[in-house]
Amino acid sequence: MSQKINGVKGMNDLLPGEIEVWQFVENTARTLFGRFGYGEVRTPMVEDTALFVRSVGEETDIVGKEMYTFEDKGGRSLSLRPEGTAPAARAYIEHSVSNVEPVSRWFYMGPMFRYERMKTGRYRQFSQIGAEAYGAKEPAQDAELMDVVVQFLEALGLTDVTLNINSLGDDNCRPAYHAKLVEYLNAHRDELCADCQQRLERNPLRVLDCKNEKCQAVAGAGPNVLEFLCEPCRTHFTDLQRKLGALGIRYVVNHRLVRGLDYYTRTVFEFIASHPALGTASTVGGGGRYDKMMKGLGGPDVPAVGFAMGLDRLVLLLKEGGKTFTAQPDLFIVAADVDAACQDAALALTSRLRREGFYVEFDTRGGSLKSQMKRADKSGARFSLVLGGDELRTGQAKLKPMAGGDLIPVALGSVAQTLRQAASQPSSPPSLKTRE
Ligand code: HAM
Repeated sequence: MSQKINGVKGMNDLLPGEIEVWQFVENTARTLFGRFGYGEVRTPMVEDTALFVRSVGEETDIVGKEMYTFEDKGGRSLSLRPEGTAPAARAYIEHSVSNVEPVSRWFYMGPMFRYERMKTGRYRQFSQIGAEAYGAKEPAQDAELMDVVVQFLEALGLTDVTLNINSLGDDNCRPAYHAKLVEYLNAHRDELCADCQQRLERNPLRVLDCKNEKCQAVAGAGPNVLEFLCEPCRTHFTDLQRKLGALGIRYVVNHRLVRGLDYYTRTVFEFIASHPALGTASTVGGGGRYDKMMKGLGGPDVPAVGFAMGLDRLVLLLKEGGKTFTAQPDLFIVAADVDAACQDAALALTSRLRREGFYVEFDTRGGSLKSQMKRADKSGARFSLVLGGDELRTGQAKLKPMAGGDLIPVALGSVAQTLRQAASQPSSPPSLKTRE
């Protein structure tokens, strides 16, 4: 017997019945980004490894430990994208977008790849929905992005999420903080894990996002980055907070928030869910400003700010909410007779109503009236309609409300009209209304 081949560890299949909640999240995001004027960008899943090394940073866990890197047949070092910001920036530079418009606002959604230790909410292929705004250095842009996320989470019905914000300063003020941090961490060197002892030499800020509890305790008691901000960075951060206030967005200032990527300057933020379903993977999204990245990648000196949400984690939260996302058929057509004329007429009526925009089910296997009625019941359809010799002869049939109630007489030529009338009744299920 041949051996069964399974999917790759940490990379999940999404089957019908499960995909609907994903589509709900994706459709909600598309609607919202549209309202905010963000256009969709799609970049390849594979990029030159150097892109991530130079932007995300060599010393980050993402680049140092988690990238899927390989050599192609031409000997180039390529990597599966671990995140979407650097690829979008690469595309922005490559297509000289800043020459065409001063401000560009993009969004993306799709799979990212990180070779991480797997647990609930942490996978090796996961999906992000992200947005990037290029060309505006003002704190209003940071606030607008946070507003997108807040409205997105509201639209999904996820309210138990806390926004954490911080500022990491810029090239002007960060060195003083950096020096103080190194001094402090050196004094606590023995309490740090082996990785962090190395990070201390090469990129001490990374010690602050080490997942080791001991390192977190040391980092937590360390110097406060906000006390080191220069005047322009302080003003940016204060203005941002005022704007969040004007938008009615609640937030917590968390001076320990550094994020796991090297490209940030000034604002960083994270959205943290408190639901136990996520365990330690409670960060549903995060982002920040990265005003230096474009230039660092050989592009124009264009400021930028963005975020990405973890779709897998949003879906976990939504599933906990107990709502169902699968569409219910508007109608299940049952062919009462096994003869070809009846079967063909049922198939044709199904097709006609689908063309009219209804979700109609018909069992192509045929079968007894009883078994088809059973399937109609199981499908969750709002109505069923039995089509047999009598109905075909008279042109008249009956719509049966599956939840109970009187049969509705209907001419076979006007089933669509009757279904539409039913849809305008207050008790109509969402599947009969126009889908977004
Ligand atoms: P990040 O914090 O690395 O940021 O990822 C954003 C979100 O992706 C996380 O908050 C989490 O919800 C989700 N995520 C990350 N890794 C995994 C994983 N292994 N499994 C499941 N979900 C995961 C970025 O990627 C930045 N590019 C965000 C950004 C955009 N900054 C500026 N613009």
